[in-house]
Amino acid sequence: MEKYQIYNIKNVGENVTINGWVSRVRNLGGLVFIDLRNRCGIIQLVVKPDNKYYDLANSLKSEYVIKVSGVISERESKNSKLLTGDIEVNVDYLELVNTSKEIPFVISDDTTALEDTRLKYRYLDLRRESLRNNLVIRNNITFSIRKFLNNLDFLEIETPVLCKSTPEGARDYLVPSRINKGSFYALPQSPQLYKQLLMVGGMERYFQIAKCFRDEDLRSDRQPEFTQVDVEMSFVDEDMVMELGEKLVANVFKDVLNMDIKLPLMRMKYDDAMNNYGSDKPDLRFGMEIKDISSIFKNTEFSIFKNVLENNGMINAIVVNNASDKFSRKDIDKLTEFVKGFGAGGLAYLKFQEEISGSIVKVLSEEEIDNLKKELEISNNDLVFIISGNKKIVKPSLGALRCKLARDLDLINKDDYKLLWVTDFPSFEWSDEEQRFMACHHPFTSPKDEDVDKLLTDKEHCYSKAYDIVINGYEAGGGSIRIHDENVQKKMFEALELTEKDIEEKFGWFNEALKYGCPPHGGFALGLDRLTMLLAKTENIRDVIAFPKTNKATDMMCNCPSEVDDKQLEELGIKVNNE
Ligand code: AMO
Repeated sequence: MEKYQIYNIKNVGENVTINGWVSRVRNLGGLVFIDLRNRCGIIQLVVKPDNKYYDLANSLKSEYVIKVSGVISERESKNSKLLTGDIEVNVDYLELVNTSKEIPFVISDDTTALEDTRLKYRYLDLRRESLRNNLVIRNNITFSIRKFLNNLDFLEIETPVLCKSTPEGARDYLVPSRINKGSFYALPQSPQLYKQLLMVGGMERYFQIAKCFRDEDLRSDRQPEFTQVDVEMSFVDEDMVMELGEKLVANVFKDVLNMDIKLPLMRMKYDDAMNNYGSDKPDLRFGMEIKDISSIFKNTEFSIFKNVLENNGMINAIVVNNASDKFSRKDIDKLTEFVKGFGAGGLAYLKFQEEISGSIVKVLSEEEIDNLKKELEISNNDLVFIISGNKKIVKPSLGALRCKLARDLDLINKDDYKLLWVTDFPSFEWSDEEQRFMACHHPFTSPKDEDVDKLLTDKEHCYSKAYDIVINGYEAGGGSIRIHDENVQKKMFEALELTEKDIEEKFGWFNEALKYGCPPHGGFALGLDRLTMLLAKTENIRDVIAFPKTNKATDMMCNCPSEVDDKQLEELGIKVNNE
């Protein structure tokens, strides 16, 4: 077997045999032109009226499978959009290998078919060039990663898919056991504990391209079943892991896009990311940083701001340069609704045109406006958006608004990639729902050395040795140095308010392993689907997965999840309550 070849002008005169699908048939002035599609793309075939295969060629329909032989010749009218656009094949043999039912949608990259229809017939959708290219990119990424890590002595090791629940913050997918009725396996949310045990087991450098399963609310960058490039190393600190991680990612950009990423990557502390960008995954392809303008209003008469400051809240702003004339009242009403979706009470604005106008212009003093102009370095026609309130609402709302404005105003260069590490995450975050502190990453993340003593007494100010790699506003991966000391691990579980019984039942087996000479270790996991989305320049995670699930976690093609036979349920000892 030989490699696939994309024929071009250099192949003129060669006799070739090609298999593929009929993309299009045209009869122009007696000549039959067939666009044949296969893994290499499209190539034009020509059948002349005196050819003995002429009638067969004329009868071909879209998606019929054919085999042809012929001589490559130079085209009279070339097509610069096709790699094979300078040539065509003069058919001297044509065989109909298989026919096709009429297809439910036209196979083309500018298809208008609904995504549901395309997902139902995913095998036809996969014939589109863009999807094929995305899967090629995905393959090239994993190939690059395997080469890179193999060269550094990492071992690719598989871990179980039927396992005990590992908490990563989402709900588990459960699998009932037939042999042990009433007991369940969980599908792994990640191989976290197994990879740590591989370090206890002395593997020292591990990686795996691992399937992970999380039953959580889906978004355009989330699937219930996704893939991680999972990495773990022994005898390392944060700097060593981040250095390896960024080299791995830069190597992928070089191998797949032939793009140089400047290393070392920028590092930004979590607190700075939240304060300046309102997000732990800041998109640095555009500016509009968030500014804290609270101090300007410390003596304000404006009751809303006054109230907010008296209640330990803050007043923050973003400046949209040269945009005052681009937003009508109606546009701003829409943006107000948008930020309300993030909990903001409202959205104040000021337009700095020849005259200053805006929702709060009348209630601010001249001095306040002057200070705003100075502090925010206002130029003519700048537009300022202001949100006041509690920090937990102000920062994320302005962060989201910042991203929306950048998109709406087309400020993002789509060819640009901005990568950075976000570091120094808090160990815990408060959950209003659960009314307790939860692990910000996962409970196996090491606190900073200086914060170990605060684990039980000052959770709010406890920071961890965790880091995320962020690309263009996406969390492309994350990891941490792990706790390798049994007592610290126990303390962490305690801090998460797990009872002695819970700790023993859920993690006793894991704590036991930490007692047998556990090496210091750490690692990370890259979201392979997200990395592929970024390199393939799509914002829909389904575009980079061969057989994805819908937003409702269903597979449209094989109608899954679906009911099962009563007999199967009986064997598992399960009764379904349909209410
Ligand atoms: P984390 O939960 O941050 O870390 O996951 C690592 C990366 O996986 C990707 N990701 C997802 N991609 C698609 N769909 C999802 N539902 C989804 N959830 C996560 C993201 C994310 O950055 N065990 C730790 C890693 C470690 O500490 O080594 C973990 O799973 O790109």
